[in-house]
Amino acid sequence: MSNTILVTGGAGFIGSNFIHYWLRRYPEDKVINLDLLTYAGNLDNLKDIENNSNYKFVHGDICDTNLVDDIVKEVNLIVHFAAESHVDRSIMNSADFIRSNVEGTRVLLDAARRHNIRFHHISTDEVFGDLGPNDPLFNESTPYNPRSPYSASKAASDYLVRAYFHTHKLPITISNCSNNYGPYQFPEKLIPLFVTNLIEGKKVPLYGDGQNIRDWLYVEDHCRAIDLIVHKGRIGETYCVGGGTEKTNLEITKAILKLMGASEDMIEYVKDRPGHDRRYAIDFSKIKNELDWEPQVKFEEGLAKTVNWYKENKKWWRRIKSGEYQKYYDKNMD
Ligand code: NAD
Ligand code: TYD
Repeated sequence: MSNTILVTGGAGFIGSNFIHYWLRRYPEDKVINLDLLTYAGNLDNLKDIENNSNYKFVHGDICDTNLVDDIVKEVNLIVHFAAESHVDRSIMNSADFIRSNVEGTRVLLDAARRHNIRFHHISTDEVFGDLGPNDPLFNESTPYNPRSPYSASKAASDYLVRAYFHTHKLPITISNCSNNYGPYQFPEKLIPLFVTNLIEGKKVPLYGDGQNIRDWLYVEDHCRAIDLIVHKGRIGETYCVGGGTEKTNLEITKAILKLMGASEDMIEYVKDRPGHDRRYAIDFSKIKNELDWEPQVKFEEGLAKTVNWYKENKKWWRRIKSGEYQKYYDKNMD
């Protein structure tokens, strides 16, 4: 049976990779992409499929109850990516994070409930808080301890999704993944910011002592995990999805510098992020044991592919960095 699936936030980094993945893997399925095109949404990510008759873009807000209801009644699956996603922005102003991440999820859940639609919610390992150097890795039973406005908003949305399962029997699953990297990532996040800065001959701003640790997951591996959860995951369950690649930010920076033939003089140590979590890392044994998933792309390979993608797609990120893209959409979209 073919699906009609609503992907929210499909013009963003992971959502656009997911739509490409899905239409390649399930060419018979129909995908509706609902995206507000905030600063992070970019239709250039989907240019190659804009004329695919199984793909439709709807410009709109997940907080818009009527619009969401109209779309949800046409679909049999929702994969929910849309969110404000950058920790640094949530520190400056958290209003949009509460609105899109919490209220937007609530609107989608109510529409899914009205039409009894299968709902997969994309969350983050940041909801678990900060790991000490000797703590066990995050898993599905780790208590929530969000410490940034971003992770607090994601934790709130996860709780809502679970509440709709327990209270209303809505068929949901949740995945909490670690830091993704790969093509189409907005150049405000560590890897694309550093790669594009170096191409432009600029220094790379490393926060604090550079010893914070993240667990890096290649975006295509993440898309495969979502595919398995959507098709074979147990309803009501959460799955932790990690890359099995813990690295300090300094290690990542040195790896990027090496790939780009740049010297360590290009590192600029800058003031730390307030409340900067020291370490995130995921134990992915549940999804491995239940769904036979594990990351396939080795970090060195994934990073090299990513660096090459940014080298080969300068027009894509130069439009973003110069503000040209945003100006175009502010003028041309309703
Ligand atoms: P992104 O910022 O690149 O994209 C987010 C997309 O959502 C954009 O296209 C934006 O226009 C859209 N959007 C925002 N608010 C909206 C609204 N109110 N209505 C409709 N569309 C809206 O984010 P991403 O990195 O692709 O992250 C996708 C999801 O994955 C998010 O839920 C995020 O919390 C989660 N996540 C991301 C990472 C990561 O490393 N990037 C890690 C863990 C979890
Ligand atoms: P980021 O890509 O913002 O993801 P997250 O905060 O969701 O993990 O940051 C990844 C790590 O890189 C995090 O420890 C903060 C650090 N970082 C820098 O050192 N400099 C930067 O300019 C940015 C954007 C991040």
